[in-house]
Amino acid sequence: MSFTIVEQCQARLNRSELAVPGSNPTFMEKAATSAADVIFLDLEDAVAPDDKVQARKNIIEALNDLDWGSRTLSIRINGLDTHYMYRDVVDIIEQAGQHLDLIMIPKAGTAADIYALDMLVTQIEDNMKLEKRIGFEMIIETALGMANVNEIAGASKRNEALHFGVADYAASTKARTTVIGGPNKDYHVLTDADTDGNRDVHWGDMWHYPIAKMVVAARAYGLRPIDGPFGDFSDPDGYAAQSKRSSTLGCEGKWAIHPSQVELANDLFSPSEEDVTKAQRIIEAMEQAQKEGKGAVALDGRLIDIASIKQAEVMVQKAEQIKAAG
Ligand code: GLV
Ligand code: MG
Repeated sequence: MSFTIVEQCQARLNRSELAVPGSNPTFMEKAATSAADVIFLDLEDAVAPDDKVQARKNIIEALNDLDWGSRTLSIRINGLDTHYMYRDVVDIIEQAGQHLDLIMIPKAGTAADIYALDMLVTQIEDNMKLEKRIGFEMIIETALGMANVNEIAGASKRNEALHFGVADYAASTKARTTVIGGPNKDYHVLTDADTDGNRDVHWGDMWHYPIAKMVVAARAYGLRPIDGPFGDFSDPDGYAAQSKRSSTLGCEGKWAIHPSQVELANDLFSPSEEDVTKAQRIIEAMEQAQKEGKGAVALDGRLIDIASIKQAEVMVQKAEQIKAAG
């Protein structure tokens, strides 16, 4: 173990994160009863410029007046390069800050972006004598943000999560795709010809590298890595496949840009009963091994050692977190 201990951010269940436009009060009312672990009320890209001011007012009302139960609440503010941003932060924290858990920062580009926002939020919280400290979730969705992802992850004690914003990331890197998330038929390998001259096409995952890079940065700083949107809400199988890829890499959850994706995400980012049972067996086998003074043993014909305990504990702890949340 390094002498540097990674401090973990506040633990929250974040399997599903439902996006709700602040310009639509009916959608916000519906969201307040949804099964989403986290809900972000959007002021940014789902809201047209002419609706920004009204959306801010709607969000203040919704935060104050709706019963959100135990759901974690976030607002996606406008970008730091827009004049909307300061009022998003000042007005919402001053008028409804006690109901807000997180601020989602879109297009985070440098550690200084996070620092600047931390300063502003700290001043408002102090002035309003808010007891709860609001956390930050940053969307990594530009080439600049991805280039600086490690510095962004470590930029503030408020930081809780990094999100992969696949649509803006594709635009920023000038990737040749117009869909929001999922694979691309042009990103494939062609096998050599077999003896009959046949060649197979194997689709690859064009998002593997940025998601893996973001997961590492998030975990190195004790944050939650979260996979962003999957635009085709009429393709639950495609959503499930993307979720399985990102959860396999270490993501804890995924956006739901449509209510129908919430249950899918909750399910796909929960460990299966089979996985949890296996993890418990590994822990028991290793406890027994350690009693016998052994560092490694065989379980079901496979080697397990002390690292296996840590892998298994990830699974068991997640299952316990889900159970505790009811
Ligand atoms: C999310 O904001 C995205 O750009 O994908
Ligand atoms: Mg975006």
